[in-house]
Parts: sequence; structure tokens; C-alpha cells
Amino acid sequence: MASHTASAPGKIILLGEHAVVYGRPALAMAIDLRFRCKITPSDSVSINGWEIDRAKHPYTSHILNEHWSGGIDIETSSTIPSGSGLGSSAALCASLNAAIMASGGASDEEEIAQRSFDAELKTQGSASPVDTSASVHGQVIAVNLQGGRPLWDISHGGNNWNISHIDVPRMTMVIGHTGISAPTGPLVAKVRRYYDHSNFAKDIVDEIGSLTEDAALALSSGDRVGLGAMMTENHKLLSILGVSSRELDKLVDASLPYSFGAKLTGAGGGGSMVALTDRPDRVCEAIERHGGTPYIISSGQPGAMVEMD
Ligand code: PMV
Repeated sequence: MASHTASAPGKIILLGEHAVVYGRPALAMAIDLRFRCKITPSDSVSINGWEIDRAKHPYTSHILNEHWSGGIDIETSSTIPSGSGLGSSAALCASLNAAIMASGGASDEEEIAQRSFDAELKTQGSASPVDTSASVHGQVIAVNLQGGRPLWDISHGGNNWNISHIDVPRMTMVIGHTGISAPTGPLVAKVRRYYDHSNFAKDIVDEIGSLTEDAALALSSGDRVGLGAMMTENHKLLSILGVSSRELDKLVDASLPYSFGAKLTGAGGGGSMVALTDRPDRVCEAIERHGGTPYIISSGQPGAMVEMD
């Protein structure tokens, strides 16, 4: 029976994580690490040759319940480290939804983004559409920011996120993965407690919002010096919110001498950091020397796409 294969990229959040939960803007970039799904209609339901276990595969189970009837064989492969804050679950959802849609002869970015967000939301309990929209569209996306090319809106529970595309010149960055897996939910909840009880925390969230607006301009114009300084400032503000860690600070500090700027990316607590640099090899060495795993990435990566077998 006919197979369909699709792949989708992981992502980093360039600026604005956590503040985006309170309606402030965020910027996210697709990275050159990808998740790949091949689907083949079948008599039974299997993933990588095994009968599907709902507890182990909650995202896949949700997507199959909503959008597939009958049996299916799914084969997956990925270069995105899981639990790294680099969007592997969003890329799984985006690639599986793209493959399912392609098997029905369709292709609709907005629909894939909506279905992928729903799967993350149902599985995690709370999520913003930053990861899934970045994975589906690729390139660089802005959330809740004027000035880009509007892509789509995603709404849930009284929240509305407006997603747009922004043009960005070629840039090189280095990701440093701490090797520590830190789930997003408890970190979002920690910031929520601080935010609800402190005007100081609300001021920090506002400051991250303004910084992200300024950074969008620096990003579009290719001003790496300005953008880097704002990323480093964003890291300091996230540290004040309590979401950095000793390992993240160590990798950020180690990268700064060879970078325009560096910060944690995603929820924090562990996961990964990112440095904007024109000396990627030096940054990789510094990250490795301090116990992290480096990945050199560049802007301009395609989003979810169907691949020929
Ligand atoms: O852990 P990640 O990489 O999915 O990033 C979470 C980003 C937050 O702003 C903290 C939460 C969210 O859903 O936007």
C-alpha cells in the first residue's frame, strides 16, 4: 500500500519564552535538526514495528484518534534530542499530521499547525502554539507581533495567538544542550506563582515583552550585535524569573567571549541554550569543555514537508 513520508524541524525560541504565556510577543526559529515520519496503511496499528502503547506514545495516539481511521504502520526517526527544549514533540506532531494529510491528497499549513497545537495541548495540558507553528512553517516566526507577514491565528481558552512570518538574513548560532531534561509544565507553573504574587515579576515580564519587540527589528535588519546584546539581556531577565540553572549559566558564560550574545532557550531549568556567533567552532569547543553537547545551526530552515520515498 502507498506510503507517505513527511519531516518537520525542531525549534529554538530566540526571545520571549515565558512572557508569551502572558500574551507578550515571542520569536522562534526552525533549526536544522528534523523529525521524520513514514506512514503506511495497514491491518494493525504499529509504531517502529511495535504495537502502539498509548502511555508511551500520547501525541501519536491523540493524532490517530482524531485524524486516522483503520490500521497504520508508522516509522519514525529523528535527529532532535528529546527532552532538550528543542521542540521534538512539536516536530513529531507536525510531521505525522503532514504525512496523514498528504495521504489524503491535501496540504494545508494552517490546518497542520492547528492539529499539531491541539495534540500538544491535549497531551501536555497547557501549551502555547510557539513550538508547533515554528515547526510547521519553518524559517522564523513571530507570535503576537505587528510588522511580519500574517500566517494564522490560534485560539484556545480565551487566549489568541497571532502567528506571522518574518524575513531574516542568514545567521549562524550554536545550541548547547545541557543533557538535563526539564519538563516545561512545572517551570511555567513556577513563573505563574511568582507572577501572580509579585509586581516585580510582572515588570520583568513587561520588560521581556519590550525587549522582544526591539529584537524583532534587529533580527530583520541582520543587526547581530544588537540582537546578541538583547539575547544576553533576555537571559538575565529569565534568570530573575527563576528558570535558569547552574548548567545553563555555565554554558552561556562559556559561550559569551566568542558570541554576540547567548541565552537559555525554551522553558529552562535544564534543556538547552543558544549563542549567536560568527565563531561557531570556538563556541562549540567552549560548550563541550563545560559539559554540554553543541549543535551548529543556521536560519532559513524549511518547515513541515512531504518527502519522496
Ligand atoms: O520547553 P519549550 O521549548 O517547549 O518552551 C516552552 C516555552 C514557554 O514559553 C515557557 C511555554 C510555552 O508554552 O510557550
